[in-house]
Amino acid sequence: MIETIKWQDNKVYLLDQRILPNKEEYIICESYHDAAEAIYNLTVRGAPLIGVTAAMGFALGAINIQTSDRAQFIAELEKIEKVLADTRPTAKNLFWALQKMMSVVRNAEDQSLDTLKELLVKEAQAIMDDDNERNKKIGQWGAELFDDGDRVLTHCNAGALATAGPFGTALSPIRSAIGQGKKISVLADETRPVLQGARLTAWELLHDDIPVTVITDNSAGFLMAKGMIDKIIVGADRIAANGDVANKIGTYTVAVMAKNHNIPFYVAAPLSTFDFALKNGDQIPIEERQGEEIRCIQDHYITPKKVNVLNFAFDVTPAHYISALISEKGIARPPFEVSLAPWQTTA
Ligand code: MRU
Repeated sequence: MIETIKWQDNKVYLLDQRILPNKEEYIICESYHDAAEAIYNLTVRGAPLIGVTAAMGFALGAINIQTSDRAQFIAELEKIEKVLADTRPTAKNLFWALQKMMSVVRNAEDQSLDTLKELLVKEAQAIMDDDNERNKKIGQWGAELFDDGDRVLTHCNAGALATAGPFGTALSPIRSAIGQGKKISVLADETRPVLQGARLTAWELLHDDIPVTVITDNSAGFLMAKGMIDKIIVGADRIAANGDVANKIGTYTVAVMAKNHNIPFYVAAPLSTFDFALKNGDQIPIEERQGEEIRCIQDHYITPKKVNVLNFAFDVTPAHYISALISEKGIARPPFEVSLAPWQTTA
C-alpha cells in the first residue's frame, strides 16, 4: 500500500513526492516549520493530504511547546496555525483541518496542557482516518458512473498520493469500478509544470496494476475529437456553493473541450474541500507559484533564464461544465444550488 504520511515516535514521515517516480524516500518532520515547508515546497501535495499534513504539523508544534503558562501556550498555537495556513491558499482542506485542530483547543479549556497535547495528536490521527473513510465512500458512490471498457481521462494527481490513504478522490471511483470487475483504462494528462500526472498518477496506477497511458496536456482535445476518451474525472482544491471548482491549472480547458464533445466531466472531492461560504468560484483564492517551476524542468532551464512567466497553480471550472460532483454523501447533479443544499449542513 502507498503510505504518503505517518505519525511515528512524535515525528511525521512524509513520502517525498518531489522525487517520485525516480526515488521512494521519506523526509522526517520534527517541527511544525518542517511540516509547513513540506506543504509549501510540494514534498506533499493534493488538497486532502495538505489538510492531514497541516493537522499533524499542528500536533507536532503543540507537543514541542515548552511553556506551562496556558495563555502563552494558546498564543503559540495561534502562531503555529498561522504559519501552516500561510503555506498554500487554494486547498480548502488546509483551513478545514486547522479549524478542526483549533476547535479541539477551544473545547479543552478544563484540561491540563499535557492532556490537550494528547488530544491534539489524537485529532490529527482522526483527521487522517476520516479522510480515508470519506475517500473510500467517494469510490463506492462514484463507481456507478463508469462502464466496462471506459477510457477515462484525468488531470493532475487526485489519487492515493494526494490523500492519506489508498483510494484517492478522483481515482477512487475508478479503483472501485475496477474492483467490480469493469475493465477501465486511464489517460493521464502530464500536467505541466510540476508533472503530477506524468510522475505521480502514472506511478501510482502502475503500482496498482491499473492500465495507464500518459499524454501531453495539449493532446486531450485531439483525443476527444477522435473518440478516444469516454469520461473525465478530476479532483478539486476548493468547491464553491454554486458548484464552481478550483483544481489544477488546465482543468478548465479540459472541461470546456469535454462539453464541446459531449463527454461527461466529473469532479470528486470530500466535503472538507467544499467551501459553502463562497457564492462562486470568483471568490476562491488562486495560488501563484514561483516562475522557476515553469522555466526549469528538474533544475535544467528550458526557457531563457530571465523570461517572464505566469504560474497560476489552479484555475476555476464554472459549474455549468460539470456533469456531476461526487462526495462521500453521494452524487450531485446540476442544478448544484439545489443538489448541494443537503450537503451544506454536514460539511
Ligand atoms: O498543486 P497540487 O499538486 O497540490 O494540486 C493538486 C490538485 O490540483 C488535485 O487535483 C487536487 O488537490 C485534488 S487532490 C485529491
